Amino acid sequence: MYEYAIAWDWITFAVRWLHVITAIAWIGSSFYFVALDLGLKKHPQLPPGAYGEEWQVHGGGFYHIQKYLVAPANMPEHLVWFKWESYVTWLSGFGMLCLVYYAGADLYMIDPAVLDVSKPVAIAISLCSIAGGWIMYDLICKSPFGNDNTRLMVALYFILVAVAWGYTHLFTGRAAFLHLGAFTATIMSANVFFIIIPNQKIVVADLIAGRKPDPKYGRIAKQRSTHNNYLTLPVLFLMLSNHYPLAFGTQFNWIIASLVFLMGVTIRHWFNTRHANAGNPTWTWLITVILFIIIMWLSTVPKILTGEPTTKISATQQPFVTAQAFPKVRDTIMGRCSMCHAKEPSWDGIIAPPKGVVFETDRDIAAHAREIYLQAGRSHAMPPANASHITDEERRLLVSWYESAINGEKTQ
Ligand code: HEC
Repeated sequence: MYEYAIAWDWITFAVRWLHVITAIAWIGSSFYFVALDLGLKKHPQLPPGAYGEEWQVHGGGFYHIQKYLVAPANMPEHLVWFKWESYVTWLSGFGMLCLVYYAGADLYMIDPAVLDVSKPVAIAISLCSIAGGWIMYDLICKSPFGNDNTRLMVALYFILVAVAWGYTHLFTGRAAFLHLGAFTATIMSANVFFIIIPNQKIVVADLIAGRKPDPKYGRIAKQRSTHNNYLTLPVLFLMLSNHYPLAFGTQFNWIIASLVFLMGVTIRHWFNTRHANAGNPTWTWLITVILFIIIMWLSTVPKILTGEPTTKISATQQPFVTAQAFPKVRDTIMGRCSMCHAKEPSWDGIIAPPKGVVFETDRDIAAHAREIYLQAGRSHAMPPANASHITDEERRLLVSWYESAINGEKTQ
């Protein structure tokens, strides 16, 4: 069923498209409200209960926004909620995790040199760590330890460093970074789902019942929302990192991830200070650049490869190796692809295997069969600009090899 491979690719694209769109909407509204909040002006003419206001101009109109710190005296007739951006970002992100990492666990998640586990165990570790992360975070925030915001943030930072270390000792570098991103993004979305929105609902219910809402609900929501603010940029880095093997695939990847969380703070601090009209702390950019240079330097330390390369061929990979066309396919891949896709590429200017894709063993080829089919058979995406002069006949060979193996046709 080669149609399956094509449909799968398009479904992944659709879910990714959705994920990026909703993430833009969520992060966009979140940045907007943080900036609005910090820029609010206070003056005596504000209506009772109002904390501050701001005038804005956008898209040809003027907007006049006022913030009520706890709540207005009466329930407004129309109230706009901001929550679906966050929920759908999480749901589509979880969809991507299932489609790419759970379905392709052999390829993307499990590195037998790191931890040799079966697919179900790897998926269980993934799910438990993400859910457990939220539970632990939430308990710490609710405990007396969480009363001091700065102390809490420093402790959370060290937890994230430990989690970064942990994930790089459970999964491939690529999956480790993605999981660290998912771990953090789940905390952010759960903050919206379990804390911020329910607290707002309590306040709304009080208003409707004519009770005076307790300001503590707003305060707690603000604390969680501040965490979300500082976590946004690192999460985006981690989500994009799978395109950059130097970030996830080198020895000190967990230190790189830890420094990225610091950059999230230094960059956001500059914007937050500016939006609050509280100065122009350019030193934060200096620190950001220094951190980035340290990251680049750390990525030059090569990954020390422990153990032999994996050659174990799983049952699902077997048909690709036993297919009649395989010896010719192997020759094609070795001749047209491996100059770039090797642990030590020989192609000028390529210093690490692109996207971490290596074709050195039969297992490598079998494990990447679907991608080979899509990238070099069905489409002409690979080799880039046909750098290695693959012929149309060789492309047809890759296509018929994949399709016959997946259909379980006659094998040797
Ligand atoms: C000249 C070097 C070069 C050659 C030759 C080459 N590739 Fe690539 N390959 C790259 C680069 C660079 C990327 C990363 C592209 C990107 O970042 O989008 C890549 C990415 C890939 C990916 C991952 C795509 C993804 O989006 O995850 C696959 C699979 C792949 N190549 C397969 C092949 C196959 C099969 C061949 C041989 C038919 C081949 N490549 C030949 C340089 C090469």
